[in-house]
Amino acid sequence: GKRIRPRLVWAFAHCLEHPPPQLPLLDLAVAAELIHSGSLLHDDVLDQGQMRRGRETVNVRWGNTVAVLAGDMMLVRALGLLREHPAEISATAVETVASMTEAVISEVESRGRLELSPEHWRRIAAGKTGALFAWCGRAVALLAGEPCVAADLARCGRALGIAFQLADDLIDLVGRRSGKTRYSDLKNRELSYPILVAAAHSAGDRAAISALWKMDPPTDDAVREVGQRLLAGVALPRTVHQISRELTGALEALGPRRDRPGGLLIDRWARKLGAQFIEPTLAAAKER
Ligand code: FPP
Ligand code: MG
Repeated sequence: GKRIRPRLVWAFAHCLEHPPPQLPLLDLAVAAELIHSGSLLHDDVLDQGQMRRGRETVNVRWGNTVAVLAGDMMLVRALGLLREHPAEISATAVETVASMTEAVISEVESRGRLELSPEHWRRIAAGKTGALFAWCGRAVALLAGEPCVAADLARCGRALGIAFQLADDLIDLVGRRSGKTRYSDLKNRELSYPILVAAAHSAGDRAAISALWKMDPPTDDAVREVGQRLLAGVALPRTVHQISRELTGALEALGPRRDRPGGLLIDRWARKLGAQFIEPTLAAAKER
């Protein structure tokens, strides 16, 4: 994995004038990665994910029972690590896992519903991915004994998380170096941001996706054909635009902390994330 959440814990800590000491910070970083990895083990059971980080998923290799129980164990170990720290850190971690779970319930209930709005998608992304990124900021502020900074760091984290989820949705369509199976959202009737944008802006795209989602199961050729069709429309540039809006919001939330070492790091990631989509966007625009 890319260990984005532990790195974010470090970066948020170094946005502060007095970062918390390394060892308790390490507990937050490990807890964030354990919650994330546990949630992915469960997510791959729900999505019937086949590939993760360039390898077979745990559910494919060892089955759903192992994947669910290993995910439970990671979650419990994460919460156990936090018991040593101020009670609000554990309490907010529990709320975060509740938000993630509620968002995934809403996502499962939304499968195949092309009439839903991109705002509906954003609420799901804010819970599913944004909540844990936000917790990284909130928990660091609480650990540092600076609760009034918690809301700003959490706002930055939430927007970054939504930008990462937008990027994840786009990579599923563009299919680059992700270590996951391409077009899995189209195959699984999963509402991604680009799919919703395409359905909202083009009656032809909407009809093509609906027809694909009536096939049981959709063939690989049909999935690829619809995927290519979406790439030739407005889905790509609009999703890239939304990524850049979320990143701008994230950096604004940092305010003057953007000039601290952690803020500079977050600024660099944001630019890198934005830049990686410029090339495929230009290539798709040229093909149109
Ligand atoms: C990946 O989304 C999944 C998440 C970001 C969170 C999943 C959360 C849960 C299953 C509930 C919480 C559970 C625990 C144990 C904390 P995706 O399917 O869009 O991304 P992918 O392309 O990486 O599969
Ligand atoms: Mg998934």
